[in-house]
Amino acid sequence: MSSSSFFSSSMVIHVTFVLLVLQMGTSYAQLSTNFYSKTCPNLLSTVKSVVKSAVSKEKRMGASLLRLHFHDCFVNGCDGSILLDDTSSFKGEKTAGPNNNSVRGYNVIDDIKSKVEAACPGVVSCADITAIAARDSTVILGGPSWAVKLGRRDSKTASFNDANSGVLPPPISTFSNLVSRFQAVGLSTKDMVALSGSHTIGQARCVSFKGRIYGESNIDASFAKTRQRTCPNSSTSGDNNLAPLDFQTPTFFDNNYFKNLINQKGLLHSDQVLHNGGSTDSLVEKYSKDPKAFNSDFASAMIKMGDFRPLTGSNGEIRKECRKVN
Ligand code: HEM
Ligand SMILES: *[C@@H]1O[C@H](CO)[C@@H](O)[C@H](O)[C@H]1NC(C)=O
Ligand SMILES: *[C@@H]1O[C@H](CO)[C@@H](O)[C@H](O)[C@H]1NC(C)=O
Repeated sequence: MSSSSFFSSSMVIHVTFVLLVLQMGTSYAQLSTNFYSKTCPNLLSTVKSVVKSAVSKEKRMGASLLRLHFHDCFVNGCDGSILLDDTSSFKGEKTAGPNNNSVRGYNVIDDIKSKVEAACPGVVSCADITAIAARDSTVILGGPSWAVKLGRRDSKTASFNDANSGVLPPPISTFSNLVSRFQAVGLSTKDMVALSGSHTIGQARCVSFKGRIYGESNIDASFAKTRQRTCPNSSTSGDNNLAPLDFQTPTFFDNNYFKNLINQKGLLHSDQVLHNGGSTDSLVEKYSKDPKAFNSDFASAMIKMGDFRPLTGSNGEIRKECRKVN
């Protein structure tokens, strides 16, 4: 072997090694389902028991915890940023338009975190706890299960402006805005339709669907009338009045949401646009007839959503309390 070819092959080995180290240390670090199996073996059972007791006290909490993970992930990745209270150095996400007086479940996350810290101090991130709680909530309310990928770390900051920037689509969104907002976080139109099936559980405030029940024509007339009874058009006094997103079984994770859309009984404008004579009508119809296909696509899409821009390796931190940075 000539000295020059020896030199170049050792260069190759060296460069490969450096790339490998970079990959392990930072941007390419992958989440894995067994991330805490050695460092916090009772994590999953601890989370599940707290979620179970919270949901048995109030079924809606299952819906709220599922949504919490979605709103965490869509704003700068699944990094627990939504859980941070405001500080003197930043205004956080909690009072941003899509979250203020709407997102719930922070106390349940705190409760889980304190039990997890007692068993495995400084090990498990708030972002991961939120992802597991979303899965457990879905299962407890009758939906599908999936293996939650773990290893996310927590952000050291949060951004009011980023949460208000439109990355979380509003309920008055057009179909094309929904498509592009999901595309921006690596989710397909199919994922978007499947994930919207989350609206088979939980509640919405009058202010979120007022425009639809008073102003739109692609809505079942008697359904609109029923919703109007507790959601006045003229004053803002009823804006916080709640209505179920799925009028049939709002505490059960099933496929009635899709059946409702076919009958023009979607509550939000952003629900009904998924079945309004466009390209996703056929998928909505499929999910309405095939709950197994819905469950399976929903689980896959939740895993995909949970993969969006996590902090890994030495980025971020493991918060001691989910509401504040260490
Ligand atoms: C497709 C775009 C989406 C829009 C425009 C949207 C919008 C909304 C709105 C406006 C509410 C009611 C909030 C309120 O009035 O206080 C709501 C509730 C809810 N959303 Fe979505 N959402 C979308 C996608 C999702 C996704 C992807 C998930 C979960 C993976 C989700 C889960 C939920 C749940 C479970 C509730 C009920 C929460 C509770 O009762 O506390 N949504 N959504
Ligand atoms: C959040 O809601 C509260 C209570 O309705 C309100 O006083 C406050 O102004 C809202 N915050 C923002 C930033 O809109
Ligand atoms: C509801 O209120 C909006 C905005 O104030 C108004 O434009 C609309 O005509 C009202 N619709 C009905 C049916 O009262």
